[in-house]
Amino acid sequence: MELVNRGGFVTAKDLGSTNGSYFEGTRFESLDLGPGAVFRIGETELQVVAPERADPIPPSEETSFGKLLGKSRKMRAVFAVLERAARTDATVLIAGETGTGKEVVAEAIHAASARKDRPFVVVDCASIPSNLIESELFGHVKGAYTNAMTDRTGAFEAADGGTIFLDELGELPPALQPRLLRVLETRRIKRVGANDFKAVDVRVIAATNRSLEDEVRAKRFRSDLYFRLAVIKVNLPPLRDRRDDIPVLAKAFLNRHEEAAHLELTPEVIAALTSYDWPGNVRELRNVIDQAASLSSEGLNLALQLKARQKAAQIRSAKDGASGVLVGGFFGLPYKEARKQALEAFELAYAQHVVDMAGGNITKAAEQAQVHRNVLHRILARGKAEEEELQDDS
Ligand SMILES: Nc1ncnc2c1ncn2[C@@H]1O[C@H](COP(=O)(O)OP(=O)(O)OP(=O)(O)O)[C@@H](O)[C@H]1O
Ligand SMILES: [Mg+2]
Repeated sequence: MELVNRGGFVTAKDLGSTNGSYFEGTRFESLDLGPGAVFRIGETELQVVAPERADPIPPSEETSFGKLLGKSRKMRAVFAVLERAARTDATVLIAGETGTGKEVVAEAIHAASARKDRPFVVVDCASIPSNLIESELFGHVKGAYTNAMTDRTGAFEAADGGTIFLDELGELPPALQPRLLRVLETRRIKRVGANDFKAVDVRVIAATNRSLEDEVRAKRFRSDLYFRLAVIKVNLPPLRDRRDDIPVLAKAFLNRHEEAAHLELTPEVIAALTSYDWPGNVRELRNVIDQAASLSSEGLNLALQLKARQKAAQIRSAKDGASGVLVGGFFGLPYKEARKQALEAFELAYAQHVVDMAGGNITKAAEQAQVHRNVLHRILARGKAEEEELQDDS
């Protein structure tokens, strides 16, 4: 066997072996194999793996890519990869914590690519019952299931000529992994219950908030499928690791609210925003700004929002054990006072959270929490009074 690295792919040539060389069950003499391809020489399986770039590409000069904003070096490094990805049809794997912008990245790559006028189809593997995912992806023919009354077009066919976004791919049931791999290798799909294959021209972008590398090591995710997907790998850093993006994003989110033109990102607010850890990343930041804007008529302001969040984080870390005891700050106080403060902090954090979940609608939040809306109003008003006291002190 002779292997020649041609940068991007490998030419494999069988030099007359007795056992033969095989790719996808077919014997070959000479074949070009891309990253992820698994081939067999006799009893030995080999896989083509793209090297980690020795020379990371320099960060982009731009501070946005599509709808993504960011001036941090980390995000500009991501933009540089996205700019290149958009120019190719290569499969992209996006990894990042919740709320870091994985879906926005997928849309932005599609929108910047030659496929932009063709469909962008999203399949959320986490939200579809596992027995329906195959039909969702590849379609089915009438009678394939007891209640399959008609033929159904799957997402791959619907995305023909465009891009398919496989969200939460880490949730793909193991039984389907080899089927997806075959589709990626052959670019042909078979509807459930059909006998024939159909060619599709689809660019694949996948996202996951778990580490697929860990899943591969734990043997829950096939390594050949992983390498097929990670031809281009985008790692979205959590917001706490690129705090210089926080003011930029906060300003952009605030500017979307005309009704909140009077709200200001004072240096104090910016300082509070940038010191918070944002476990929910950019989505959480956007929610905080949206709420501050929509509730500003009820007197809630950004600083108060942040205080509630920080208190909630304090309570969480206090619950988390010894280190939290110090952070909690309640423990140096007499029991009665500590209890009162902890309870008030809890109430405020809770009220804030349900209002958060209800998109700022207090009546809806009250329904969900099963309390009268006056209860939430009272808690939020008390928080506001405390806030004003604090401001008077300073
Ligand atoms: N860099 C960014 N610039 C502007 N907006 C962003 C950026 N990153 C994320 N957002 C916004 O944050 C929100 C969450 O983004 P998105 O839905 O893409 O996150 P995700 O990584 O897919 O999260 P999840 O894992 O929970 O699905 C969206 O409203 C998006 O517009
Ligand atoms: Mg998402």
